[in-house]
Amino acid sequence: MALWDGRFEGGPAALMQAFSESLSTDLEMWAEDLAGSRAHARMLARVGILDEAERDAILAGLDRVEADLRGGWRPGIEHEDIHMAVEARLAEHVGPVAGKLHTARSRNDQVATDVRLWLRTRLDRLDAAVAELIGVLLDRVESDGRAIVPGTTHLQRGQPIRLGHHLLAHAWALSRDRERLAGARARVNRSPLGAAALAGTPHPVDRDWTARELGFDGVVENAMDAVAARDHLSEAAAAAAILAGHLSRMAEELVLWSTPEFARVRLSDAWSTGSSIMPQKRNPDAAELVRGKTSRVVGSLVSLLALTRALPMAYNRDLQEDRPALFEAVHTTLACTRVLAGCWRDLAVLPPPDLRGDFSLATELADFLAGRGVPFREAHRVVGGLVRLCEERGGDLGALSEADLEAAHPGFRGVAAEALAWLDPEAAVERRTSRGGTAWSEVERQVALLRATLG
Ligand code: ARG
Repeated sequence: MALWDGRFEGGPAALMQAFSESLSTDLEMWAEDLAGSRAHARMLARVGILDEAERDAILAGLDRVEADLRGGWRPGIEHEDIHMAVEARLAEHVGPVAGKLHTARSRNDQVATDVRLWLRTRLDRLDAAVAELIGVLLDRVESDGRAIVPGTTHLQRGQPIRLGHHLLAHAWALSRDRERLAGARARVNRSPLGAAALAGTPHPVDRDWTARELGFDGVVENAMDAVAARDHLSEAAAAAAILAGHLSRMAEELVLWSTPEFARVRLSDAWSTGSSIMPQKRNPDAAELVRGKTSRVVGSLVSLLALTRALPMAYNRDLQEDRPALFEAVHTTLACTRVLAGCWRDLAVLPPPDLRGDFSLATELADFLAGRGVPFREAHRVVGGLVRLCEERGGDLGALSEADLEAAHPGFRGVAAEALAWLDPEAAVERRTSRGGTAWSEVERQVALLRATLG
C-alpha cells in the first residue's frame, strides 16, 4: 500500500516498483529528511495547524524513527523513497496523527529540502578536505620547497624553479576551488520548504521560520522554482568536477614523478601497492585511482546537465535521477581529495635532479643581453646559436668560454665572465623576484597568503 494509492485499483508491477524506487539512493538523506519533518511539524504548530499534543506526538514519533534507523532498521523498497518510508514508519509509531505532518507539504519540496541540506553539509566537508590538502602542500613547500627542479612546458625542461613554486601553482588552483564551492553553497542554502507541490499552499505556513530553523539563509522565493530548480546541483557538481580536474592533474604528476625516469618522489607504502607477479613493483595506485575516479565526477556533471536541460516546469520524475549523479560527484571528489592529501603528506621528496646538460639556463643568457639593451628577439636568436654550438661540441652551456660569448654578440664584450656567472640555477631562481616568480621570497609570500585563507 502506497501513501498515494487512493485513486488506484491495482498496485504497481513488481518491475515498476523496483524501477521507480529511489530509496536505495535517498536513504542516505534520512537525517536530513527527519530534520525537515521536525522543522515542518514545529512550524505547523506555531501557525495553529497542529495543536501542541499533535506536534509533540509527531516529534516523539520522529525520534523513534531516528532511533530505528540508528539501530539498523531499514525500510523496504515498497515505500518508494525515504520520505514515504519515514512517514509510514511514523504512522506505525504514532497512528493517524502522522498523516497531519504532510499538511502544506509535498514530496517535491521535501526532496528539494533534503537535497539542499545534504549538499550543504557535504560542500562543507569537501571544503574542509580541500583546505587540508592545501595545508599539506604548504607544509611541503616549507619542508622541501627550496629544492631546485626543472620547470617544464610541453613536459620539456624550460627553466629551473623551486619545487615550492610548483606546489604553490596547485595550491592556488585548489584555493579557487574553495571559492567555487563557497559560491555553490550560497545558492544551495535557500529553503524550498513550504512550496508544496508547485503552487504554494492555502495553509498559513511560515516559510521564513522553517528556513531559519533549518539554518538556511533565506527561502527560494518562487514555489515552482523551489521544486523544479536543480541548477544548484549542477553548480556544485561543476565545482566538484573542476576540483576533480585539479586533483587528477596532481595525481598524474605523482604517477610520473614516482618513476625512476623522473625520480622526484617516493610514495610511502601506505599509498602504494605491489604486483602479484613482479616482486619488485611499487605501483602508484592511489594516484592512478584518483586520476581514474575523477572521470566519474565529470560524468556526473554531464548527467546532471543532460537530465535537466529539456524538462518542462515544474517537478518531473526524471529529477529523481539527480541524486545518484550528485552523490557520486560529491563522494568521489571527497575521497580523491583526502587520498591525495594522504599521498602528499606521506611521500618523500627525492634529491633534485641534475640540471646540467639540459640547456634550461639558456634564457638566462638571453635575459642578460636584454638587460643590457639588446632587443630580446635578437638576444634569443644569439643564444639559440650558442645552444647549437654547444650541441655540436657535445657539451652544455657550462662549457662556453668568454671568447665564445664575445664572438656571438658584441653585447657580451667585457662582461662575458659576469654572463657566465648567470649560468647558475640558484642565482637564476633568485633573480626571479617579480611578483609570483619562483624566488624564495615570492614563494614564502604566497605561502603566507594561502595560510591566511585556511583560518
Ligand atoms: N522519489 C521521488 C524523487 O526522489 C519523490 C518525488 C515524488 N514526487 C512526485 N510527484 N512523484 O524525486
